[in-house]
Amino acid sequence: MSERIYKIAAMAGDGIGPEVVREALKVLRAAEGKFGFQLDVTEAPVGWAGIDAAGKALPDDTLALCRESDSILFGSVGLPDRDPTIPKEERPERAALLALRKEFGLFANLRPVKLPAELAHACPLKAERQGDGIDLLVVRELTGGMYFGQPKNTETLEDGQLRAVDTMVYSTSEIERIAHVGFKSAQLRRKHLMSIDKANVLENGVLWRDVVTRVAAEYPDVTLEHMFVDNAAMQFLLRPTQFDVVLCENLFGDILSDEAAALAGSLGMLPSASLGATSGERTFGFYEPAGGTAPDIAGKDLANPIAQIRSAAMMLRHSFAENDAAAAIDAAVGTAIANGLRTGDIFSADDPNARQVGTTEMGDAIAAAV
Ligand code: IPM
Ligand code: MG
Repeated sequence: MSERIYKIAAMAGDGIGPEVVREALKVLRAAEGKFGFQLDVTEAPVGWAGIDAAGKALPDDTLALCRESDSILFGSVGLPDRDPTIPKEERPERAALLALRKEFGLFANLRPVKLPAELAHACPLKAERQGDGIDLLVVRELTGGMYFGQPKNTETLEDGQLRAVDTMVYSTSEIERIAHVGFKSAQLRRKHLMSIDKANVLENGVLWRDVVTRVAAEYPDVTLEHMFVDNAAMQFLLRPTQFDVVLCENLFGDILSDEAAALAGSLGMLPSASLGATSGERTFGFYEPAGGTAPDIAGKDLANPIAQIRSAAMMLRHSFAENDAAAAIDAAVGTAIANGLRTGDIFSADDPNARQVGTTEMGDAIAAAV
């Protein structure tokens, strides 16, 4: 790693995945030339593309490539309208995405939500609720809770009705390690951590609150507050500016991060990083936009590539400590926005400076600005 050669598995997946990953690779190549590291990129099919190519959402060759790579740049998987007869365990969401999270122990999911001033119009909240700008980070636990807890099944009862069971389960160590990520993230930002739970009802919530409170003693510079998840859902709409880092278990984080994304104007803007344990100087990471496959606009040069491009910047920062290159990419995104470039999802005809562009033109402009 010290020779700054990074092996990346690029897995575009389905829907808009291929076109936005293509733009992210274009921007990474621009950064590579300028900042002097070397990228060794191998592309591989995943999702429905994996099923089409090799009969499985996560083909063996794709998994093998992931194992020998330093990080994964992921597009998105899942096409709800395709073949409903494929069993749910084999569908891309479970067989590829959740399987990769588990396989690589990607327990820490970081989803930064920031509404640029130029896009205030795209936020569904009134200007006065946006305050000085919405800027928060959701830290979501990603390998525990109800997504993976056992038992998990559907059984037929004697009277013929079905009974479905999912289990929310967390152990102390799982909460501790994500709490550390939350506190460390807060130290790098405005030093406030809002821990989300449902301690008034769930055993898991009581344990979560206890453990997070105990870990807080190691971070005296960070202010910790707790909030019930139902109240948090409301507070996101009423006073989103009170949040800096928001720490959640898996399912709550899934729900709240989509809600937060809406505040940033468009899912097409939001990157994410899913990180495993750090060993030596290496943190294996999985970088994907938060937005999904958007099959309705796939292949039409309409998708916003910014979430994918910012995910690539997160990769440079979190897996490779190429902080200057990451900052340059983020700044280039800011420049493109400031210059009025807008994909359809963030375009407003009322804005005299805005010009609607396609996926490729947005990617070209950002790559040129790096
Ligand atoms: C996300 C997605 C996934 C999740 C789905 C596609 C399985 O919604 O990454 O937020 O629920 O985690
Ligand atoms: Mg989600």
